[in-house]
Amino acid sequence: MSKKIIIANMKTKSNYNDIKKYLKILEGRVTYPGVIFMPTSLYASYFIEKGYKVGLQDIFFEKEGSYTGEILPCQAKSLGIKYVMVGHSERRAYSNESNQIINKKIRNALEEKMGVVLCVGETKEERALMETREAIRRQLFTALKGIDNLKNLIIAYEPVWAIGSGKIPSKRELAKTVDFIKEFIAEIKEGAKVKVVYGGSVRSKSLPIFNQIENLDGYLIGGASCDAEEFLKIIELCENIK
Ligand code: PGA
Repeated sequence: MSKKIIIANMKTKSNYNDIKKYLKILEGRVTYPGVIFMPTSLYASYFIEKGYKVGLQDIFFEKEGSYTGEILPCQAKSLGIKYVMVGHSERRAYSNESNQIINKKIRNALEEKMGVVLCVGETKEERALMETREAIRRQLFTALKGIDNLKNLIIAYEPVWAIGSGKIPSKRELAKTVDFIKEFIAEIKEGAKVKVVYGGSVRSKSLPIFNQIENLDGYLIGGASCDAEEFLKIIELCENIK
């Protein structure tokens, strides 16, 4: 089985002192190469200084110009930030991020040769109406329109109902959705292969089951990634997969 990617989506959960403590606990203990930290952008340089792989939780959709308060892909890149996440459901909900805007962000970040983590997933209502696949199809289709080189793209499947709720899909349900995403992308992008990670209430206790899913390439971890010891446990579980 290939090694799992582990992405820490630290959201807005830590202040400066929390970050200092967190980095101290992790010091010398993260050697697994598949870990990408996505702290609040304000703290990104502290993670870069430690030599970690770092990504931003969002990026602006234009590539040059004056946009007060925003961060452009070229600026992130110049600091050593190699990844960006786009389309997280919290941004779709609170910042009205559309699939068209997400498409622009992906294009510009890929042009900067950054790795892009595109989040997709169905809401509770869509799931109840058995519209999970339709919702994912819609998001992927527009977000990836006109983008053909998917080499640096990772899809994060994050069911909105699972984020921060303590609820998770069954192993069977998750494995099927991961297969569906891979098949759909291969269908619309001439056989292209992408990596798919799962996000939504991932904890160390749920990992042994999810780690059995061959086709799943890793995890996007929110809350649990901000707890240093819990995050180290998660890394260890992925590191020890046979
Ligand atoms: P959670 O968040 O692990 O806290 O559910 C996941 C995410 O929003 O990326």
